[in-house]
Amino acid sequence: MLKGKHIILGISGGIAAYKSVTLLRLLIKAGAEVQVVITPSGKEFITPVTLSALSGKPVISEFFTANTGEWHSHVDIGLWADAMVIAPATASSIAKMANGVADNMLITTYLSAKAPVFIAPAMDLDMMAHPSTKRNIELLKSYGNHIIEPAEGELASHLIGKGRMEEPEEIVKYLYRFFASQQALKGKNVLVTAGPTYEKIDPVRFIGNYSSGKMGYAIAEEAAHRGANVTIVSGPVSISTSTPNINIIKVESAREMYEQCVKIFPNCDYAIMCAAVADYAPAKYIDIKIKREKEDVPVIKLVKNPDIAAKLGAIKRPDQTLVGFALETNNEENNALEKLHRKNLDMIILNSLQDSGAGFGKDTNKITTYFSNGKKLEYSLKSKVEVAKDILDSIITK
Ligand code: PMT
Repeated sequence: MLKGKHIILGISGGIAAYKSVTLLRLLIKAGAEVQVVITPSGKEFITPVTLSALSGKPVISEFFTANTGEWHSHVDIGLWADAMVIAPATASSIAKMANGVADNMLITTYLSAKAPVFIAPAMDLDMMAHPSTKRNIELLKSYGNHIIEPAEGELASHLIGKGRMEEPEEIVKYLYRFFASQQALKGKNVLVTAGPTYEKIDPVRFIGNYSSGKMGYAIAEEAAHRGANVTIVSGPVSISTSTPNINIIKVESAREMYEQCVKIFPNCDYAIMCAAVADYAPAKYIDIKIKREKEDVPVIKLVKNPDIAAKLGAIKRPDQTLVGFALETNNEENNALEKLHRKNLDMIILNSLQDSGAGFGKDTNKITTYFSNGKKLEYSLKSKVEVAKDILDSIITK
């Protein structure tokens, strides 16, 4: 998986920098081409000579080579990379990355990198637990960066707690898993439904819901980043995406969404039904605005909309994977499992409006996934970008 991959190894100034030597050796052994970028304080802990001998490349630390004036282009290095690993990442470097403080070569390279970024924090337990570090790490996660959580153990201060940089072998395994998960969706056709549906009552009114499309679009973007050909069948939303490899089909009603999905699904490897589809629509569309009655309140008769997920579940082939969502307010697990089985889904993602930060319109979500084989995975509250990654990781390893 790592053979031929271009990896930037960013090293900042912490005692755990000694482990970066092992990490570098393991990456080279796995066949990666590694460019080391080290901060000025990183060089206090580990010498560039060791790193360049192991990587076979000059180590970059300054914007210019002092004696020749040669400029080191952080932009070119950023574009060259398939991945950037920052290990160790000190509290200071984490803060700079989170806030765009581009005062050294490592941070400018990070800001220019288009490739996925993996950050392995290393610091004393109190620094790790400080609200500013926590906030900065959350910011980095919300940018889509991968945080390789530090382990608990004895720290340089001899205190015991969380803050030890993850072992190099584990970091390499993390990268393996990442590249394997990227491979799994390459060239696959993925259908994602997103947003609400609007069921027209008259020219000025509709039945709808609060879905913003954020969750569905985040899944679509993550799948496209992993090389999938993605189609979003989207209800009316105010968001959009410029990610390549995403085709958006705009619909309004559940009926229109149903027709598009039934047409597209036979050509899909994966379908993820994230839209909040209205279960009912007015039986009759009134083509002029319903006037306010003097005495009587108008009665709108409703009819059932088609169940898109259930229809796809009925026509699903064994080589296809169908994933649904369950948005619940009560009796969550039972309701989710009932939908999983009734709609013949391979997996259902439960989000509950009982959890603050989860559900409609928010930038975060908290999910539990249930699989048709009985497996269950619970996740903490995360940004929808992170949740999308978890969802795709669990779909491909189901
Ligand atoms: O868009 P956001 O603001 O980011 O919010 C995200 C979300 C809360 C909308 C999303 O995470 C979510 O939970 N989507 C599913 C909402 C929903 O309609 O759940 P449900 O439990 O009513 O439906 C179960 C499943 O059947 C869903 O996959 C749904 O898409 C599908 N369904 C429902 C009704 C119907 N007629 N056809 C369907 O396909």
